[in-house]
Amino acid sequence: MEKYIGIQLDKNSPQHLYMQLFQKIRQLIMDGKLKEKDKLPPIRQLANMLGVNTSTIVNAYGLLEKEGFVYKKIGSGTFVSERHDNDLSDILLQKYPLDEDIRLMDRGQIQIKENMISFASATPTTDLFPVEDFKILLNEVLDRDKGDAFGYQESQGYFPLREALVNYLAQSNIQTKTENIQIISGAQQGIDVISKAFVDYNDTIIVESPTYTGAIGTFKSRGAKIVSVPILKDGIDIELLEESIKLYKPKLVYLMPNFQNPTGYSYSREKKMKIIELAKKYNLLIVEDDYLSDLSFYRDDHATLKSIDEIGSVIYIKSFSKIFMPGLRLGFLVLPKKIHHKILAAKHTSDISTSGLNQRVFDLYLKKGIWKNHIQYMEKIYKERFDIMKKCIEKYFTQTGIDYSFPQGGLNFWFSLPEGYDANKLYVEAAKNNILILPGSIFFTCQNESRCFRLSIASVYPKDIEIGIRKLSQVIEKFIKKDTDKRKGADPYTPLL
Ligand SMILES: Cc1ncc(COP(=O)(O)O)c(C=O)c1O
Repeated sequence: MEKYIGIQLDKNSPQHLYMQLFQKIRQLIMDGKLKEKDKLPPIRQLANMLGVNTSTIVNAYGLLEKEGFVYKKIGSGTFVSERHDNDLSDILLQKYPLDEDIRLMDRGQIQIKENMISFASATPTTDLFPVEDFKILLNEVLDRDKGDAFGYQESQGYFPLREALVNYLAQSNIQTKTENIQIISGAQQGIDVISKAFVDYNDTIIVESPTYTGAIGTFKSRGAKIVSVPILKDGIDIELLEESIKLYKPKLVYLMPNFQNPTGYSYSREKKMKIIELAKKYNLLIVEDDYLSDLSFYRDDHATLKSIDEIGSVIYIKSFSKIFMPGLRLGFLVLPKKIHHKILAAKHTSDISTSGLNQRVFDLYLKKGIWKNHIQYMEKIYKERFDIMKKCIEKYFTQTGIDYSFPQGGLNFWFSLPEGYDANKLYVEAAKNNILILPGSIFFTCQNESRCFRLSIASVYPKDIEIGIRKLSQVIEKFIKKDTDKRKGADPYTPLL
């Protein structure tokens, strides 16, 4: 208990007591004063010591659990989670030593065996790639530019493409100039270049919890401290975000305001405005990862933060990987003016420039209007899958006892098993039945027994969606029943209170 003796809660502060306590315990964990597997004090004991209601402790512990800092063991108490400081696969492999898929997962890959239905990958199937159009435009570029297409390119990006992107962005209400655009070799490189330019060892970065695994990996590779703030169905928990900003003074705040990966949640307009207000108030640099706002099936307002950023606080990252061809490795940043030089230097030392050939072909793609047709085609394909998926979830998952809400677009659906169930185990059971799901634990910065999992429609054909969801619902029902039966024979439950 001595570690908790120094905790002082200010009853006169406008900040809730549970929030104060949450932050103090989180700090103890981040500073290494509370170690992995350390047990937190029993609720009543800590409440008595701090002179507060037990509900304050329950709420603080609940928030710590939601953020992945602690986990609950029924009948035993609340414990500090393991950190993901190692390769994620190392941690999962301790639990599932023979599972090669888990070994691959944290490298963004998954092995698909024959007859498997994969809801795990959010990458489009290659039959959707517009290869014929690309071939025609590629030849046109080669005839027109000859060897110039293969020389070193301007690091900031091929100028005519940047001009085309200014027009493209104006259609989504982002008014910018060619000098603010930086071409990158995919959004992942964008995150990396931004980190290289701004993040030093021990700097803090705030992310949503859960968040995109590739971003976690990049920030960790810079030695950054990652503070995660839970995302709710209408966007990040704003109150907690502001508290975390005040406390940690982050170098960057990394957000996905539209169809967030992995949850599929989108921010309300109010929350988007509030983020910009916070950026202004605390002089923040916000990184907006827009990997999917194009696929908005049932939502009119998919405004980007960049489109409402009047003070130049948002770095906008655009990926085309989900709607075009990921192997092209092409994306772009829209930068606030004040940071051009830093980003340009970081990009130059990463790969000098993005492929000039690909940039030239993509430029023609945009200028000839072929892009518009392609996007409409992708929207049609994905919307059909999205609608089938929704119907199947309603038909087969309602009885299973799992929790979900429907996104209004995008490719990902997010689910929670009932309390105490581990989606990593469900992943193993589903794979035995030839269904691939993505366990949610890979999207959290702390290792805990995540109850969540993601299903994506990107690489499942319509005919397989119903088969897959029906089978998966059976696996889930069996999985929950099996675990419940096991619990019947377990030690008697000891309540925490
Ligand atoms: C949220 C998010 N950002 C960035 C990326 C990386 O995209 P790219 O292929 O453009 O590097 C992905 C890929 O899945 C993603 O989901």
